[in-house]
Amino acid sequence: MADPSTITMEGLPTLLEGDNKVKVAGVDVDGILRGKIMSKEKFLSIAASGFGFCSVIFGWDMHDQTYFKELEVSNKENGYRDLLAKPDLQTFRRIPWEDNVPFFLLRFFDPDTNEPICSCPRGLLQTQIDKISAHGYGAKAGVEYEFFNFLTPNNVATAAGNRTPSIAAYLADNPPHSLPPLTEGMFGYSLTRPAANKDFYYEIFETCRKFRVDIEGWHTESGPGVYEAALQFGDIKEMADRSSLFKLVVKSVAIPYRITPCFMAKPKQGLPGNSGHMHISLVDDDGNNLLARNEPERDAKWPDIANLSDLGRHFLAGILSGLPDIMPLLAPTINSYKRLVENFWAPVTVSWGYEHRQASVRLVGAPGTKKSATRFEVRVGGADANPHFVLAAILALGWRGIEKKMAITVPPLGKGQGVGSEADSGMRLARSLREANDRFMAKDSVAREVLGNEFVDHYGGTREHEIRQWDEAVTDWEMKRYIETV
Ligand SMILES: *[C@@H]1O[C@H](CO)[C@@H](O)[C@H](O)[C@H]1NC(C)=O
Repeated sequence: MADPSTITMEGLPTLLEGDNKVKVAGVDVDGILRGKIMSKEKFLSIAASGFGFCSVIFGWDMHDQTYFKELEVSNKENGYRDLLAKPDLQTFRRIPWEDNVPFFLLRFFDPDTNEPICSCPRGLLQTQIDKISAHGYGAKAGVEYEFFNFLTPNNVATAAGNRTPSIAAYLADNPPHSLPPLTEGMFGYSLTRPAANKDFYYEIFETCRKFRVDIEGWHTESGPGVYEAALQFGDIKEMADRSSLFKLVVKSVAIPYRITPCFMAKPKQGLPGNSGHMHISLVDDDGNNLLARNEPERDAKWPDIANLSDLGRHFLAGILSGLPDIMPLLAPTINSYKRLVENFWAPVTVSWGYEHRQASVRLVGAPGTKKSATRFEVRVGGADANPHFVLAAILALGWRGIEKKMAITVPPLGKGQGVGSEADSGMRLARSLREANDRFMAKDSVAREVLGNEFVDHYGGTREHEIRQWDEAVTDWEMKRYIETV
C-alpha cells in the first residue's frame, strides 16, 4: 500500500485506480464514526473543495435524538444546515472486511468562514497540535483499551413474537445482565481463553494490522470475556484516529461471530471497569523525547521527578492543575463515574507518582530503559471516552503548564500509598457527570481557557442532554429496591 504521508490530490486518480466507490467518515462528539459511501467520481470532484455534510451529526445524541436544548452548531433555526466536510488524504486506508473499499476520515468546517467547527473532535485535537508545533514541539501518544465481549443472543424470542438476533430487541425484553459473556470467569493473560475463540481473536489482530491500526499487545484482561489491546504508539494525531478506528475494527469483525464488544466504562457491578489509558510524551522536531532529563537531579523536590525535565515538570503540573475541569472529556457518560470509584484500581483523585499504577497520572520511565520512553500515562479515562477529546485535553492542559511555567503542587503518591489513603492529599475528582459538567462549564473553568468557550458551550450542552436523559430514566435498580418496600 502507498505510504499515506505521500498521498497528494494529484495522486488520487492513480491511488483509486480500479475502485468505483470510496467510504468517508467523520467523528462525532461521542467518538462515533458517521459516514457514507460515495461514487469515486463524486469523491474525486470534492476531494479538494470539500462537500456538504448535514450538521445534524452535531445536533443529535448517540441514539439520533436531537438535543433537548438546541446548540449553536446545528439547530432548527439554521435548518440543520450543511457543514463543509473535507477528506484528510493522509488517513487513507482500505477496509479489509468490506472488500478493501478505500476509506478516508473527514474534518468539518464552517461553510461560510472555512474555519474549523468547534465540535469536530479531529479539529479540536489539530488546534492543540498547531499550538505546540508553532513552538517546534510535537507529541506522541499510546493508547490501551479494555472491553467486554458479550454473545449476541441468536434468534431470541421477543414479546412481540419476533425472533430476532438484535441486541436492542433482546434488551427490550430481557435484563441486560442475562447477556452471556464470551467466556466465563476471571482469567487475565490467559492462553486458553483466546484459544476458545481463536478465529475472532486472531482476526482482530490481523485486521487491525491491515487497517493501519497496529496492535502492540493483545490479551485477555481479568473479567468474563474481557480483552485488552495496547495500540502501537505513534504521532498523537495518528494515535487518536487509530483509537477511533480500533473500536470500528473490533465492532465490525465481531458481527459475523455474533459477538457484541462493549466499551462502556463499567458494564458490570462488582467487576473492574474498562479503562482507556492514554500515554503522552513531547518531542522536538527530530523526534527526540523532551520529558527526559539529561542528568538526574540529586536534590529534586521529590525523587520521583529526578529524571524528569523542567519542561516535563511544567507539563505534569499543567495536567494536574486542570484535571478536575476537563472531566467530562475523560469520563463522558453517566456510566463513566461508576468506574471511577474507590477500590477498583481506578484513579479517583488528582494524584501522580513515578511508576505508580493507582495514581491518575503515572510517570513512566524506568531507570535503565531508553530515555525516549519517558512519558505520562493518564489513567482517568475510560474506554468509553472519545480519544480525540482526551488527547486534545491532556495536550492543552500540559501546554498551559509549560506556558505558565507551572510548578507541581501535589506531592507524589508513594509506593504502597493508595488512592484515597491518608497520604493522598489530591482533590477528589467528580463523582458524577453532573458534578463534572458543572465544573467544566463554569465561567472560570480551565477548560474554557484552553479549549475555548464555543467548544465548552457545545460539548457541555451535549452533556446536559445526557444528564437530563438520565434524570428522566427509571432504572431496574429503583424498581427492585422500592417496589414493595416504601
Ligand atoms: C533516575 O536515573 C538514575 C540514573 O539513571 C537512576 O538510578 C534512578 O533510579 C532514576 N530515578 C527515577 C525516579 O527515575
